[in-house]
Amino acid sequence: MKIILAASAGFCFGVKRATNLAFEAADEYPHICSLGPIIHSPQVVKKLEEKGVKVIGKVEDIDHGAVIIRSHGITAEELDMIHQRDLRIVDATCPFVKKAQDYATMLCNEGYSVVLVGEKDHPEVQGIISYTRGGEVFVVADCKEAERVPNRPKLGLVAQTTQSFKNLQQVAETCLEKSKEVRIFNTICDATSVRQNEARKIAREADLMLVVGGFNSANTTRLAQICQDIQPRTFYVETAEKIQDSWFDGVECVGITAGASTPRWIIDQVVERVAGVSK
Ligand code: F3S
Repeated sequence: MKIILAASAGFCFGVKRATNLAFEAADEYPHICSLGPIIHSPQVVKKLEEKGVKVIGKVEDIDHGAVIIRSHGITAEELDMIHQRDLRIVDATCPFVKKAQDYATMLCNEGYSVVLVGEKDHPEVQGIISYTRGGEVFVVADCKEAERVPNRPKLGLVAQTTQSFKNLQQVAETCLEKSKEVRIFNTICDATSVRQNEARKIAREADLMLVVGGFNSANTTRLAQICQDIQPRTFYVETAEKIQDSWFDGVECVGITAGASTPRWIIDQVVERVAGVSK
């Protein structure tokens, strides 16, 4: 049985950085927690818990020690509260997310109304909005929603890092009809599209697809949907233990991909498990 493992499978730059920072901080600080799960991998969160990193939902519940800020960032209000409580900060916010936050702040300070292309309830989007400190922000999912943005003298665009370039481009075109001055910052990170394009390619070749990652990870769930649409024999697993030999009856080629928050050791275990089936 042939196995095709996606080259892009697993940790993106920001998640790798956040995880390394968290493990280093766990060794350094005796009292440490993370504000929400550091990344969307229950297995990584568990390993960190074993090293003393507790997951805490609200800043109000942290009274001392160090706090790790997750890869997709926190709101300005949460950050203010952390400073007020005099906690040590381990900032694992992905630099790409930070950039989007900084551009939103800058645009507001320079008198632009911000058009933020993204999903309005996503924590990353909520974070970006908060850094405008009450500035005018319109969150739009696509160009249809951008139609509802009122005319303004100056519009500034930023995007949630996981948006597609095409969507940003279409929203930008719509915004040009709303303002004489449109400033665009392409804050998209291509880690998502690279993983999705590779998954599509492999799913077309394979007789069975395995998508590996936390069930709470939006990017892994999306990868599983993409693969399922192309190859109905797609299985979404968190770990190798869930894999069953019977899935592979008559299969000659297995494709494996994993979300941006799936650790390498889990991917390796899955590859090993599948290789065991073929023996
Ligand atoms: Fe950062 Fe992109 Fe990953 S924004 S957290 S490198 S998906």
